[in-house]
Amino acid sequence: MKALLEILEPGNREWELACSLDPARMPAHVAVIMDGNGRWARRRNLPRVAGHRAGVEPVRVAVETCARLGLQSLTLYAFSKENWKRPKSEVDTLWRLLTYYLSREVPRLMANNIRMRVIGHTEALPVKVRQELCEAIQITSSNTGMILNLAINYGGRTEIVDAVNRLISEAREEGTLDNLVVDEEAIESKLDTAGQLEPDLLIRTSGEMRISNFLLWQIAYAELYVTEICWPDFDRTCLLEAIAAYQKRDRRFGGLRPAQASPATEAEAVSAPIR
Ligand code: FPP
Repeated sequence: MKALLEILEPGNREWELACSLDPARMPAHVAVIMDGNGRWARRRNLPRVAGHRAGVEPVRVAVETCARLGLQSLTLYAFSKENWKRPKSEVDTLWRLLTYYLSREVPRLMANNIRMRVIGHTEALPVKVRQELCEAIQITSSNTGMILNLAINYGGRTEIVDAVNRLISEAREEGTLDNLVVDEEAIESKLDTAGQLEPDLLIRTSGEMRISNFLLWQIAYAELYVTEICWPDFDRTCLLEAIAAYQKRDRRFGGLRPAQASPATEAEAVSAPIR
């Protein structure tokens, strides 16, 4: 928190929002579906790719803000498995923007002690993009602060299927296939995000009420926050508002708050005959 206040101007809305956050209720992991770039551009009579271009700065701001807030992980949905259905020119622009981002941002990732990772099937990406990603992952690998997961050519169902297949092939190699136990812990240990906490907060921009095959396993108990704001307009204030809204949520994980369970009346009701 202190690290964030250092880069904010006292008195403005960002500052006030940051000061209003409760450090004890900060999400450990935030995941973001960065949506609405195309619509943002169309509303301005610009080509769709202009929306993607305008989406790079909010990525930079979100990454730095989350790191300075002390989050453990930030996962950004940059390219889904389904995004290959878009025109080649748009897909190529997304790769160019990603390499541009990496070339410019790695020093800032280092300055903020951020470790970058990629989740998804990178083998299908253009060689140059793969090289830039590998380099950024390698350069930031010994950082000890926030983990930035870029979800690229990612699909949640594929990730789960991959995890199960990894369990099977490892057991086969070890000759333990007959005794293989596939439980939640085993699957979690083979997910791309293994070792990280699950997202507490999932943000989706541009108002769509969909999960879009993102982190299907990991968001089981995430709080959902959907804003009408399109990604290119999602600034630091929007991010801090999302976290402030998260801090007001009542997370019960399927249980009850202590105040909700009033022992006397509950005991009476439980012992009453069921009609
Ligand atoms: C969804 O908007 C956005 C994407 C498919 C790409 C996200 C890419 C960026 C934010 C730019 C660069 C990324 C990094 C990591 C540097 P959409 O095109 O589906 O919008 P629409 O629903 O309005 O068409």
